Amino acid sequence: MPSYETEFKSVVAKIRSHEKWFSESLPMIASENLASEPVRRVLSSDLGHRYAEGWPEERVYAGCRYIDQIELQAIALGKKLFKADHVDVRPVSGVNANLAVYSALSGPGDMLMALSVPNGGHISHGKKDFGGTAGLVHSLDVSYFAFDKESMNIDVDETKKRIAALPSLKLAMFGCSLFLFPHPVKELAQAIHDKGGTICYDAAHVAGLIAGGQFQDPLREGAQVMTFSTHKVLFGPQGGAIASTAELAEPLKKAVFPGTASNHHLHHVAAKAMVFAEFLQFGKRYAKDVVVNAQTLAERLAELGEKVLGEKGGYTKSHQVVLDVTGYADGGAIEKRLEDQNLICNREPIPGDLQAGRHYTNPGGIRLGVAELTRLGMGRSEMREVAELVHLGMQGAKKKEVVSRIKEMRKGFQKVKYSFRDSPAYSFG
Ligand SMILES: Cc1ncc(COP(=O)(O)O)c(C=O)c1O
Repeated sequence: MPSYETEFKSVVAKIRSHEKWFSESLPMIASENLASEPVRRVLSSDLGHRYAEGWPEERVYAGCRYIDQIELQAIALGKKLFKADHVDVRPVSGVNANLAVYSALSGPGDMLMALSVPNGGHISHGKKDFGGTAGLVHSLDVSYFAFDKESMNIDVDETKKRIAALPSLKLAMFGCSLFLFPHPVKELAQAIHDKGGTICYDAAHVAGLIAGGQFQDPLREGAQVMTFSTHKVLFGPQGGAIASTAELAEPLKKAVFPGTASNHHLHHVAAKAMVFAEFLQFGKRYAKDVVVNAQTLAERLAELGEKVLGEKGGYTKSHQVVLDVTGYADGGAIEKRLEDQNLICNREPIPGDLQAGRHYTNPGGIRLGVAELTRLGMGRSEMREVAELVHLGMQGAKKKEVVSRIKEMRKGFQKVKYSFRDSPAYSFG
């Protein structure tokens, strides 16, 4: 019998290498963040071995005495954080939460309105032809919001015309992945409701900004339901959640269980409860700092001559900054070039890509997120330096200089902030 201990240990070694690399890099993937160490420790607790299924106190399994208390606490904290009548912390991801909403509030063949992927939409709102969850998994018909490239936002007047021309509309999904400015939920709510549509807002990216009072407040603007990831600007464990009006609570609960999940991840539920508490305490300041950092980064990049999208609206009101990099190369090549210099970000489809013959592997854009750098304690002066490093990195010839400047800069930023006490960002050992 061969020994697989070397294989076993080599996984651990690779995690150590990963943590070392990230501790010397600038992680700017807009959908990522760092959880505090106490939250991370909960993910390796015994809760991760257990089954519950169903709603607290109505479980399918025994052994849930404390698990029920934790989940009820997570729900109560989530309701407070998002000022929602109903919160469900069981979805295991943002896509899983979206699928539960589709299942609760629509049927096959119904019409969903959302943003197209090249205009910033997410594939979970997409058509069947492109493998989108809405079309492929729930057989929804998908039509698109009109989009205005200048303002990098939904075009309200044109969208009203599109809504009026639809034979019916079951669900409108606001929110997206390339997300610079608040969506016009208030402006379109009446037209959608008049057509019989329910409004969902996908806050996967911006839930932390909403909770911190820095972006928009969809549940007060006409949305009846909001889905989100718990690990983007909201700096928790990977996972999903749903917040809604009381009226939609029962159908949504059924769609989560047994509809789209059997057991949910109980260690993640505990971590979500702790992150909601952290956010109630520190979220306002954090969300404000995130937006100021994104704006500072965007302004400096524009000063350096980079083509930053959204100029008309001041580049960004979120955690994201988006660059048109077609003057250098395609987004795929730039993503790789930057990664080689420890600038970790992702290529991004931008409006006009399809017309120019660009697609997902070689789109025209790069997306930079500042949520993680902010959680590490970086502020405006660091953002100006990050802009210079990205600018140098894009030109491609400065590998050694960029790598060593980042390593030096990161020496002062190895702790997770905005928590009850600072904790190490990389503690696997
Ligand atoms: C708008 C939007 N919705 C949903 C998701 C999926 O979230 P998750 O990765 O939690 O499934 C994303 C991912 O980045 C997203 O951008």
